[in-house]
Amino acid sequence: MANVGMGVIGCGTWGTNHCRTYIQHPYADLIAVCDLDAQRAQETGETFGVDYYTDHSQMLEDDRIDAVAVVTPDFAHADPAVAAAKANKHIICEKPLATTRDDALRVVEAVKANNVQIMVDYHNRWNPPVFKIKEDIEDGKIGKVMSAYVRLNDIIWVATDYISWAAKSSILWFLGSHTVDILCWLFDDKVRRVFSVSRSGVLQAKGIDAVDLYQSTLEFEGGGVAQIENNWIVPNTNPYVNDYKLNIIGEKGMFNMDFSHHQLIQRFLEDKADHPDVLVRPTVQGKPTGLGFESIRDFVDRIYSGEEVKVPLETAAHVTCVILAIMESAQTREPVLVENIPV
Ligand SMILES: NC(=O)c1ccc[n+]([C@@H]2O[C@H](COP(=O)([O-])OP(=O)(O)OC[C@H]3O[C@@H](n4cnc5c(N)ncnc54)[C@H](O)[C@@H]3O)[C@@H](O)[C@H]2O)c1
Repeated sequence: MANVGMGVIGCGTWGTNHCRTYIQHPYADLIAVCDLDAQRAQETGETFGVDYYTDHSQMLEDDRIDAVAVVTPDFAHADPAVAAAKANKHIICEKPLATTRDDALRVVEAVKANNVQIMVDYHNRWNPPVFKIKEDIEDGKIGKVMSAYVRLNDIIWVATDYISWAAKSSILWFLGSHTVDILCWLFDDKVRRVFSVSRSGVLQAKGIDAVDLYQSTLEFEGGGVAQIENNWIVPNTNPYVNDYKLNIIGEKGMFNMDFSHHQLIQRFLEDKADHPDVLVRPTVQGKPTGLGFESIRDFVDRIYSGEEVKVPLETAAHVTCVILAIMESAQTREPVLVENIPV
């Protein structure tokens, strides 16, 4: 079988991680990269020894490219994804699928019309403890899932320094989308109704026009209830970028997960003590490893072997609709029914 020719659209922090994954994957050939920023496109192309473009339409004309990674900012996924689908390329799209209903609909229609595969990179489905919980739930170990609490927050550095476009996204798109996807997966259900309360001020005082936090209640169609917390204002002294805790209660059992200071390694240096990342994206023996890369590798594996990719488009579109409902609820201070788009 021929290797999967990959193109990467968006050569920022995470786009570079995609490139690193394709370069070392035995079934992938990185063919080209694209970034609106000409210097970034050139530097990335030269680093990985591949063609580079500033216009994704031109890159998509290359017949050697079978699939593309869309790794543009959260609000800029739809145009490259639609163009890729129309060019008959499979797609791995960074989360979320889209940040508006119209954009989500455009992507869904283009993917279906052109019969290509798309996988939104909800990589918690490759996160070992979350996967273990899913496996046990499917084995019936805790019976019907009744209730959940997920706290998935970022240290404030992510909004102030890591991404330049925080004000054009939100903690809901950046991490809340992962939270909703995890819950839909674990409950094996869709969210019917949400109620959310938000607070602002800390980020605005730092010149970033973004909401600080959302506390949201999700009611699932099958009766389950979840409380989720997403904030972008955890102090930078938190030992990990994410502050991530999860509790799931079923009819006859419960899981607790704390991923935010996993204690696998404690490092004490002259000037600081910390917990270096060994689970999300460590480099081991020169290769990118960890759950942040496993999802990307899995996409290549499945496109290579002709299998269906994980993370159904229907769920990814639903996640976008749930986040839109949460934002509406936080604004109106009323419960909001989730309005799904047809997939
Ligand atoms: N799966 C994960 O764990 C994970 C982690 C970090 C970021 N992400 C996601 O990856 C995406 C990118 O994040 P990032 O941190 O790399 O952002 P970034 O700002 O570092 O990079 C984005 C790049 O996209 C380029 N760009 C924007 N529009 C473009 C277009 N139309 N065509 C070509 N290039 C374009 C920008 O010039 C920039 O270089 C976001 O959706 C983010 O949520 C996912």
